[in-house]
Amino acid sequence: MKVVNSKEELNEQLAEWRDEGEHIALVPTMGNLHAGHVSLVELARENAERVVVSIFVNPTQFGKDEDFEQYPRTLEKDTRRLKTISADLIFAPAVETIYPFGVEDATMISVPRITENFCGKSRPGHFDGVTSVVARLFGIVRPDVAVFGQKDFQQQLVIRHMALDLCLPIKIITGETVRDDDGLALSSRNQYLTDDERAIAPLLYEVLVAVGDKLQSGARNFDELEAASARQLSEAGFDVDYFAIRRALNLESPDRDCDELVILVAAKLGNARLIDNLIVTI
Ligand code: PAF
Repeated sequence: MKVVNSKEELNEQLAEWRDEGEHIALVPTMGNLHAGHVSLVELARENAERVVVSIFVNPTQFGKDEDFEQYPRTLEKDTRRLKTISADLIFAPAVETIYPFGVEDATMISVPRITENFCGKSRPGHFDGVTSVVARLFGIVRPDVAVFGQKDFQQQLVIRHMALDLCLPIKIITGETVRDDDGLALSSRNQYLTDDERAIAPLLYEVLVAVGDKLQSGARNFDELEAASARQLSEAGFDVDYFAIRRALNLESPDRDCDELVILVAAKLGNARLIDNLIVTI
């Protein structure tokens, strides 16, 4: 498995694979890889002969008071981990490689509407940063397939919208969330949790599952379910950002007949901002 930093080295390898008629899957990451990323790489491998994993902590998707500086950078460990699975190449570019005109003068891509609420509302500019870096990675790698995690449900919808709207010939695949045994969705940010917070954190998923069960049993009092769940989480010590039941297709408010719902939650526990979601197909 190769680790490359420049577009030139990357292109050399990609050209070789394309000459052989091989398809390329891209798994964009910010590194600090865990079993969730590993499962995305495995899914990528099922969909293409070659798998490129990009590792880039993207400055444009962090707000100025967010954790860009402290975000864990663990390239050596990530490389060791990816060597043991089915990745073919790591692309770990410098900021100047991704933003050759500088971050201040970067062309930004902005998906409207679907980015307005939830994480887009609490993290202004976050999704513009995500789409702007993913569009660049798509342009640089030109993958046939790209794989994103369901844990970032809104993110994968935003990227799907961008890819469709810009006619990018890339199949977007969403990989299931990987969880610890107690249900907590794996995330690099879980390591910000203290032991006490870590003990409380699985409640996030428990509440999602409980609401999912109620929806499956016919409950349609969405507002009450949202308010009661948010209250339950607050009482347990979470600082709840949102708890919402929406249409899985576009995050709009559902009516009673909607049969593909998603329950979305974001909440802070100490220094960690945790997000999770559950798709409910009625
Ligand atoms: O989900 C992430 O890790 C990031 O938002 C992504 C898609 C790699 C873009 O920086």
